[in-house]
Amino acid sequence: MTGARIAVLISGQGRNLQAILDAVAARKIPATLAGVVSNRADAPGLARARAAAVPAVVVPHTAYADRADFDAALLTELERLRPDIVAMAGFMRVLGNDAIRRLKGRIVNIHPSLLPKYRGLHTHRRALEAGDAEHGASVHYVTEELDGGPVAIQGRFRLGPQDNEQTLPERVMQEVELKIYPQALAWIARGELRLLAGGLLFRGRPLAAPLTLADLEPEFR
Ligand code: GRF
Repeated sequence: MTGARIAVLISGQGRNLQAILDAVAARKIPATLAGVVSNRADAPGLARARAAAVPAVVVPHTAYADRADFDAALLTELERLRPDIVAMAGFMRVLGNDAIRRLKGRIVNIHPSLLPKYRGLHTHRRALEAGDAEHGASVHYVTEELDGGPVAIQGRFRLGPQDNEQTLPERVMQEVELKIYPQALAWIARGELRLLAGGLLFRGRPLAAPLTLADLEPEFR
């Protein structure tokens, strides 16, 4: 475990966190897991971090008067971890613009939709209700615009009659999220992917369109 230091922000199950932990342990991501921060003390993902001997701390949003106070406390904990990369993985709080500006270029998120479609919540239901032919998930850099930063990689599949609101989250997780997030973090940790003022740079070239499942390296498929 060397190279970049990654901090992961979670609120819940932490299955994306687990995929990142596994990829770091297997040296598929050339990085160290510096720590995990949750806004919920009961997040099952905390146990995943501790089982991997990764420091895990809780910054409970309920303990702060407003978002600015919570953001400040979160930033204090994050900065203790000295992260080069901050990965939001099922982190269910919206960060304020001041916090985002402090972390810009270092902070990424995974969102369960084919952005720019369905920013915000209930993405699976909205895709089904719209009768979309395809659905999936996206890894994007976090900017001041909610779920609106440049998309690095997006995985998609065709929706079928078997898909419903109960089964679709798991399908998106297994077929897309758990593959594209470790891959994106590997590219960032290697310095192959980064955010510039004008957009994303991938292997020295501007990224005109998001990378796809076809771009996954063999060890991430
Ligand atoms: C994922 O579907 C993520 O895209 C969404 O919340 C879910 C988090 O799951 N924002 P987990 O905590 O990684 O298991």
